[in-house]
Amino acid sequence: MSDDNNASNTTGNATSAMWGGRFKAGPSAVMEEINASIGFDKRLYAQDIRGSRAHASMLVRQGILTEDDGKAILEGLDRVETEIRSGRFEFSRALEDIHMNVESRLRDLIGDAAGRLHTARSRNDQVATDLKLWVRDALDGLDGSLRDFQAVLIARAEEHAATVMPGFTHLQAAQPVTLGHHMLAYVEMIGRDRSRIRDCRRRMNECPLGAAALAGTSFPIDRDFTATQLGFDRPTQNSLDSVSDRDFALEYLGLLSILSVHLSRMAEEMVIWASQQFAFIRVSDDFSSGSSIMPQKRNPDASELVRGKAGRVFGSLMGLLTVMKGLPLTYGKDMQEDKEPVFDASDTMELCVAAMTGMFRSATFGVARMKADAGKGFTTATDLADWLVRVLNLPFRDAHHVTGALVKMAEDKGCGLEDLSLDEMRSVNAAITDAVFAVLGVDNSVASRTSLGGTAPDNVKAQCAHARERFLS
Ligand code: ARG
Repeated sequence: MSDDNNASNTTGNATSAMWGGRFKAGPSAVMEEINASIGFDKRLYAQDIRGSRAHASMLVRQGILTEDDGKAILEGLDRVETEIRSGRFEFSRALEDIHMNVESRLRDLIGDAAGRLHTARSRNDQVATDLKLWVRDALDGLDGSLRDFQAVLIARAEEHAATVMPGFTHLQAAQPVTLGHHMLAYVEMIGRDRSRIRDCRRRMNECPLGAAALAGTSFPIDRDFTATQLGFDRPTQNSLDSVSDRDFALEYLGLLSILSVHLSRMAEEMVIWASQQFAFIRVSDDFSSGSSIMPQKRNPDASELVRGKAGRVFGSLMGLLTVMKGLPLTYGKDMQEDKEPVFDASDTMELCVAAMTGMFRSATFGVARMKADAGKGFTTATDLADWLVRVLNLPFRDAHHVTGALVKMAEDKGCGLEDLSLDEMRSVNAAITDAVFAVLGVDNSVASRTSLGGTAPDNVKAQCAHARERFLS
């Protein structure tokens, strides 16, 4: 709790200005340390002040607060916000959290009217509102970052619509595909992440403010007004649930976890592709690092870190799930443990998305190497089998068998399928003609895969245009 100099030596003498009436002594130093959240929840200051503005305005409209007090509160909140934004605000650990830090400073600035702001409100509905506002902003920000990432991927896909590379299953060369097609696979993955963001946002966009401590309030508040002011679709419907719900934080961490699975898989491919053995990609200098001992090295550290940070994001999700799993209704202080995982996972993922976007934007692809490798490992064997079906009318199972025998023959000879002579092919099936050679090249192979969602360069070009419409417009 490094920011807190004013109160770190509290020995139990000073009672709290906020609830001192009930206590003879203030908290011990250890109590203060375990209890305080200001070290991290100060990140909620803008949301906290925004919520207070809406609440104060509503209290005035409802005649619960005088116009004068309302005006003083709103002006005071502006000043507090300016102080915090400019770094002049002194956060106090003795004041525990952002809510009480703001209110206490408001009292310094405007006097007694500050004490009326907390009418018909509790920190329980306040913190739920603040965190929802924060997560909602984070969702919107992340959606924008992912859109930028998709824009880069689509641009690279267009550029490499016809670049041939091996496609893999089991990390074994399977069939030739196009690099553009591979990039568009990433675009789809990120598209689903963005759709999860939309779902989460829609579901969570209900305002808990006005639930008060847990039971609602006897004051004639207008929850529709505060909900609208804060950009929520509507108020939440049950006060008990309102202060105890952290589903939105769990969903946010859940969708971040799935996103981090995606980024980690892409990062893993980058690591493999950047190896000398593959040489499919060259990560730009500004995203590579060297070795302190091996001068030749060019390590894909950023990709490895994206891969590694997935563990950290899953940890945040598991952490909060565990915090929540045994809590009876309604609020429990355990729930103060919701913020650090949310903030950490959010920062981590924004950084990872930025790193991946930068790496994909600036990487160069080993186009010649990819093409050379695309035909290795008999990757056009399926094209040969399909030809036997299409032209010789063999049942696919027989075609598979004939092709298998030809692969074996080529393997024994140490050559590719296209290097076998027509006579050699005919020794396996006498009906084969030299038309077969047309399907054995990798370019022909990818060009023929024109089924919906297939890898043909023409498809990829059309899919790029479609992806722009779906994701970037
Ligand atoms: N700092 C607290 C949190 O983050 C705010 C709510 C405190 N409520 C209470 N009844 N102690 O959860």
